Amino acid sequence: MDKTAELKLDGKTYQLPVVVGTEQERAIDISNLRNETGYITLDDGYANTGSCQSSITFIDGERGILRYRGIPIEELAEKSTFIEVAHLIIFGHLPTSAELRRFSDLLTENELLNEAMKHHFEGFPTQAHPMAILSSMINAASCFYPELFGPDSRNTFVVQAARLLSKVRTIAAYAYRMSRGLPIIYPKPDLKYTANFLHMMFSLPYQEYDLKPEAVKALDLIFLLHADHEQNCSTATVRMVASSRANLFASAAAGVCALWGPLHGGANQAVLEMLEAIHREGDDGSKFIAAAKDKNSGKRLMGFGHRVYKNYDPRAKIIKRVCDQLLEKLHITDPLLDIAKHLEEVALKDPYFIERKLYPNVDFYSGIIMRAIGIPVEMFTVIFAIGRMPGWIANYKEVMEQPHSRIYRPRQVYTGPTLNHYTPIKERK
Ligand code: CMC
Repeated sequence: MDKTAELKLDGKTYQLPVVVGTEQERAIDISNLRNETGYITLDDGYANTGSCQSSITFIDGERGILRYRGIPIEELAEKSTFIEVAHLIIFGHLPTSAELRRFSDLLTENELLNEAMKHHFEGFPTQAHPMAILSSMINAASCFYPELFGPDSRNTFVVQAARLLSKVRTIAAYAYRMSRGLPIIYPKPDLKYTANFLHMMFSLPYQEYDLKPEAVKALDLIFLLHADHEQNCSTATVRMVASSRANLFASAAAGVCALWGPLHGGANQAVLEMLEAIHREGDDGSKFIAAAKDKNSGKRLMGFGHRVYKNYDPRAKIIKRVCDQLLEKLHITDPLLDIAKHLEEVALKDPYFIERKLYPNVDFYSGIIMRAIGIPVEMFTVIFAIGRMPGWIANYKEVMEQPHSRIYRPRQVYTGPTLNHYTPIKERK
């Protein structure tokens, strides 16, 4: 007999089905709880709530495991590329040569933006944060593809997915160029995804950017390591928006907004700003660690801690290694790397961080790599968004393909005033 959980409430006993995942993760299915008992569950920050069943990404936070479609992140980081991994995440399998060629061709065919979009970019003030531009322009781009809104949009999904994945990097590069008052550089069809992005970011009309293979590889790896991370804040947002049957671009634009916050994707920018501040103040990090432990300081050790990982984030291990290798190859010495390593060493021996199981996360070293490549700090979270796009697209697809998928609509426990009546303005105190 299938396992069930027993719940005793108000003198009655209820049997709740237990759902077991392929990696033996167990969940109590409460979908009929309110109908049967009149109760709902309450779970601050959704820390114990499984919002869906998904076959895309597996994380075991206690053991520091991350797998895309079953394949360990370490293997993919060593052997694969961002675009191959994007295919794996979105379509569920590693592409054959023919599939990879077709997917790459689709990315190339869709790399340009409609020229009318240039006017939209011009409307933003130069100090606009590129994440604001990115989310607005992803939404704006949807206006050029009416088929996104049609009833048959599922039939055109492959094209829509490639369109979004390709255009997001063009939008990101244009946003940067406009913020610096630089002319827009068009993509080059003969360049691969990541090299093309760097070309659009840094080439000049009279001078091609010198694409260093080590830098291209390191950025491609950063994209790959960010490609999906199950039900994090932005992906859950994408699924939430998708559940209302909003189109793919609108759902992804919402994901960009959720990612922007400093507790989520915005942490990579916050880490670098923290390291710069520590360096400016001549601190070796000790003062900052003391402040991060003091709840009244309003400071946290950015790039440390994770809702799911209670062990080293496997992506942080890979990024740290690549960071060392890249700086050596490019002959760069960065004092911020020394500060970061010192912070990590001190924090990992400190009872505050040990007791709370706080380890470096993906954002701790990624900024130093991006800085070495020449990417400005305000673009860091945009890089995260480009990387996360395959995960958002795959999760969108999963929501749309569920035969009985319902709109996401949590409940609440109301704590406001009980029945109250309207007071005319003259009688109000
Ligand atoms: N520095 C100092 N204290 C921390 C930190 C930190 N970075 N992270 C958590 N804590 C403390 C927190 O104050 C709390 O202490 P206490 O139990 O005494 O109240 C305890 O650890 C548990 O923290 P929490 O905020 O309840 O944990 P959470 O799961 O809600 O938050 C987190 C996870 C990632 C938002 C949090 O660890 C954090 O703010 N980290 C810094 C920001 C960061 O690096 N974010 C990137 C996350 S990884 C990439 C991504 O997903 O986008």
